[in-house]
Amino acid sequence: MIKLTPRLKTVADMIEKCECFLDVGTDHAYLPAYIVENGVAKRAIASDINEKPLENALKTVKEEGLSDKIELRLSAGFENIKQNEAQQIAVAGMGGIMIAEMIENTPWLKDFGLRLVLQPMTHFELVRRALNSNGFEIDGELTVAEGERAYLALSAKYSGSISQKPPHWFYFGELLNSRKESDRKIVQRIKKMLFLKSEFTSDEEIKEVLRSVENAEGN
Ligand SMILES: C[S@@+](CC[C@H](N)C(=O)[O-])C[C@H]1O[C@@H](n2cnc3c(N)ncnc32)[C@H](O)[C@@H]1O
Repeated sequence: MIKLTPRLKTVADMIEKCECFLDVGTDHAYLPAYIVENGVAKRAIASDINEKPLENALKTVKEEGLSDKIELRLSAGFENIKQNEAQQIAVAGMGGIMIAEMIENTPWLKDFGLRLVLQPMTHFELVRRALNSNGFEIDGELTVAEGERAYLALSAKYSGSISQKPPHWFYFGELLNSRKESDRKIVQRIKKMLFLKSEFTSDEEIKEVLRSVENAEGN
């Protein structure tokens, strides 16, 4: 049986029971192997843009005796995936710029029957922005510590409505007022990143976000 690290276990815990689970950027296919072995999904598709990770995935699938339940597929993002193939989808361990692009470039994700679990390593604001502006509602946010680092995972479903959110929400979501240690670690990391110049953010927006952080932390 596959044992996951805390980061991937957090992502796995956010996946709901389904017929077929899709893991985009699977590398070793640890996540789909765990999901199928634990009965969360009957089948899974483990996809990756590169051949080498799919070789890693094949090794895991063979070792775990899951060849009849996990299909391996070469695909850049959702390019070789069809709309009705899976109901729960994970994209974990990738940069937020790429995850946001995948959301923007894949109109069929706007399907009431699909649920996304995303674990961006960077640029959480771009992921929340892409979700919000495309009519997805974020229905879960979890942080987890692994070693010195903390990670964030989000779950989202298409709702069709776009809500007005203040700028700081795109960066911090609901984490700003939390006292949980891994939430605080993520908040501190985002604050540090705010001071780095980014082509995605204007100086005005950064100032406004920092003011909101000061207000929240002053309370
Ligand atoms: C750091 S690993 C993460 C593996 C696993 N998802 C995890 O969270 O531990 C990133 C994987 O994503 C794959 N990848 C990168 N860009 C991709 C894309 N556009 N579409 C699909 N896979 C991609 C890489 O080949 C690599 O195997």
